[in-house]
This record gives sequence, structure tokens and C-alpha cells, in this order.
Amino acid sequence: MDLSGRTVLVTGASGNIGHGIARRFAEAGAAVVAHHFGGSVDSLVHEIRAAGGQAAAISADLTDENDCARMVDEATAWRGGLDALVNNAGVQPVQPLADMTAEQWREVVDTNLTSAFACTQAAATVMRERGGSITHIASIEGTRPAPGHAHYSASKAALIMHARSAALEYGRFGIRVNTVSPGLISRPAIEHDWPDGVRRWQEAAPLTRLGTPEDVGNACVFLASGHAAWITGHDLVVDGGVSARPTW
Ligand SMILES: NC(=O)c1ccc[n+]([C@@H]2O[C@H](COP(=O)([O-])OP(=O)(O)OC[C@H]3O[C@@H](n4cnc5c(N)ncnc54)[C@H](OP(=O)(O)O)[C@@H]3O)[C@@H](O)[C@H]2O)c1
Repeated sequence: MDLSGRTVLVTGASGNIGHGIARRFAEAGAAVVAHHFGGSVDSLVHEIRAAGGQAAAISADLTDENDCARMVDEATAWRGGLDALVNNAGVQPVQPLADMTAEQWREVVDTNLTSAFACTQAAATVMRERGGSITHIASIEGTRPAPGHAHYSASKAALIMHARSAALEYGRFGIRVNTVSPGLISRPAIEHDWPDGVRRWQEAAPLTRLGTPEDVGNACVFLASGHAAWITGHDLVVDGGVSARPTW
């Protein structure tokens, strides 16, 4: 898929999956604005430029809606337009409902959901003239809950419905809005940190392995490309087939 000449903003590019998403966009020829907050995207930007691509770093606190708008404006100004946005930044704390505070609930909802609302609104404003693609990274937990993740699952379910609503309202401007729902994605040392989870996933997955950040990136590149020109309001599950399993 050739995205030469396009500019994409990837939030949470300093994280594990965001890194893979940004890398796949760069490999497809897109100019990448790599967002970070407390972490760094220096090595990612260096890697993309060293391979002949274009990349810029941008920092923002996505729980601040004004910072979301500023980030989108600066990303747009970089090359005079914005063709795609991937709302990937998010947090995944574990907290049983019985002990969950309203503050803990709000932190997850603000970071995972309200940030995507604010970034989408800002991006759609600049995409109105020539269209664009917006993709939220949701999760299979948006349709299947996991213990200790009520706030997380609720935020991801809401992201899926936000994307459908946005697809409805922005379609006439040529703006497509979709979600990608990953299953368990590999990260460095995950086999060491969570051997039981990795084993259970490998047993459950028809494709017998964990996903990679690039598996998620491939789905995002597809949705941003012309090959997905008639796809909007869709939730693309990228989970090695786990959601296809019977649950009883
Ligand atoms: N890991 C999985 O198996 C999995 C499965 C399904 C869905 N997902 C989703 O995929 C996305 C990425 O997950 P990941 O595993 O790559 O997580 P990660 O490595 O922890 O990365 C999280 C990213 O979110 C950014 N972030 C967090 N709070 C922020 C804030 N207030 N403002 C701005 N940026 C903020 C972080 O930026 P800094 O580090 O620079 O602060 C980081 O880049 C998340 O939405 C997650 O829910 C993950």
C-alpha cells in the first residue's frame, strides 16, 4: 500500500503498539508525526529518517483537550495538511470494581476515550476540505470484558461507538472513521512478565501466537489507504482469531 505524499499523526508513538503503527506508515511512504508525552520518540524518528522517510516528534498531554487541538494544528502545519490520524494512546491499569475510585475511572476514560473525542474533533475540522481517515485503537475488550478492567473495557466499547457516530456525521466530508480492536500484543519481556497469560493466549488463538505491533499497524495502514475508501464505521478485529472461538 502506497501512502506517499500523505501525512499521518500517530498518538502514543512512544509506546509499544504506537511504535509499530508509526513504523508501518513510514514503510508505506507516509510522513509520520509521532506523538509522545512522558516517553520519547527520538529513536523512532531517527530510524524513520535514516531509512529515507519523513518524521517529526510532537508532545502533548492528551487528557487536556486544548493540548489535543494544539497538537493537531501543529501536525497539520508541518506539511500543510493532515490525511490520517490514529488515536492509539491509552492506559491499561487493572483495578477491581469494588475498590475502584471515581478518580481511577476518570483517568482511564479521559486518557482512552475523551482524548480520542478531542483529537478527532480537531482533526476532522482540518480534514473537511480534502477528506481523511481516522482510526481509534480500541480492543477486543471493547466487546468482551476482562476482570479488573471495567473502566478499560467501557472506554474501549465507547470508542467503537464513538467511531460509528463520527463515521455517520463526518462521512459527507469524505472523512472515514473506524476502529481497530487488537487482541494480546507482544512486547519485550512479556513471556517473562506474564507467562501464564501468554500461554493461555497461545492455546486460545487459532493462529497460535500473540500479535505484533506491526500486525496492528498493517490494519491501520489499510484503513488509511485508498483500498479502504468505502469502509467507515467499522471495527476491524486483529486478534489471531480469538474472538471467533465459542465461549461455552
Ligand atoms: N497491549 C495490548 O495487548 C493491547 C491490546 C489491545 C489494545 N491495546 C491498546 O493499544 C494502545 C497502545 O497500547 P500499548 O500496549 O502500546 O501501551 P504503551 O506501550 O503503554 O503505550 C501507551 C502510550 O500512550 C501514551 N499516553 C498515556 N497516557 C497519555 C497521556 N495522558 N497523554 C498522552 N499520551 C499518553 C504513552 O505516552 P508516553 O509513554 O510518551 O507518556 C504511550 O505512548 C492502547 O490504546 C491500548 O489500550 C493494547
